Amino acid sequence: MSETLLKADALCAGYGDFQALFSIDFEVAKKETVALVGANGAGKSTLFKTIVGLLPVRSGTLSLGGRDITSLPAHRLVGQGLALVPEGRRLFKGLTVEDNLRVALDHGRHVDKGETAWTLERLYDLFPILAERRRQSVEKLSGGQQQMVAIGRALMAQPKLLLCDEISLGLAPKVIGEIYEMIPKIRATGTAIVIVEQDVSLAQRCADRIYCMLEGRITLTGKSSEISREQVTEAYFGVKHAVD
Ligand SMILES: Nc1ncnc2c1ncn2[C@@H]1O[C@H](COP(=O)(O)OP(=O)(O)O)[C@@H](O)[C@H]1O
Ligand SMILES: [Mg+2]
Repeated sequence: MSETLLKADALCAGYGDFQALFSIDFEVAKKETVALVGANGAGKSTLFKTIVGLLPVRSGTLSLGGRDITSLPAHRLVGQGLALVPEGRRLFKGLTVEDNLRVALDHGRHVDKGETAWTLERLYDLFPILAERRRQSVEKLSGGQQQMVAIGRALMAQPKLLLCDEISLGLAPKVIGEIYEMIPKIRATGTAIVIVEQDVSLAQRCADRIYCMLEGRITLTGKSSEISREQVTEAYFGVKHAVD
């Protein structure tokens, strides 16, 4: 693997008495696209929340670009090159498309991405429909367009690593296709990406490597091209399924 960007070592986290992550080893290389799959409740969103500092690390370590970020809370991680597209989008209701995008500009101020820095213009090239809707309130947009704003807002923070949590949830197949078309374009700017995706085939198609989680543990990892559907099924459900 090329140079490591994010590294989680034996990471544990949870909510109160409930342990949600058990000794997670998870790595993303610079410019890599990784998919994280697993059933509902496996701990995918919890892993994202822990990486971005919204949930404290209970044990284990987390580093970004070789720097220890284990104890940094979310507000200190802003500007370090991590951005999350959260499950359910969480846009600023009542603000226009453009104001939602501008909010994140400040967060990216300290990250020097030179020529590959995201600007409003570059975002509108990526998602032309947002340029047409720039003055509209985000509630007026379709689900797919709102998702584009959520991704755009995360990109405006100039991430080295973009974490996308279930960006296709509830969207029509055609719209999912449109959203996923942006992945190669974002990769081309040198940004590493982790996607959480329910559709395992889609995840496998767009990612270099895949991690599968089950009940708070990583049950499978490897190159997308070298992992079989049966291996994923077993890692996903934790049982051997008969192959038809
Ligand atoms: N805020 C919370 N408080 C308590 N338990 C939670 C909370 N969020 C998630 N959990 C629990 O943590 C586990 C992992 O959840 P989550 O990370 O959301 O899974 P996934 O994203 O893979 O569907 C589940 O058992 C879930 O019920
Ligand atoms: Mg989730």
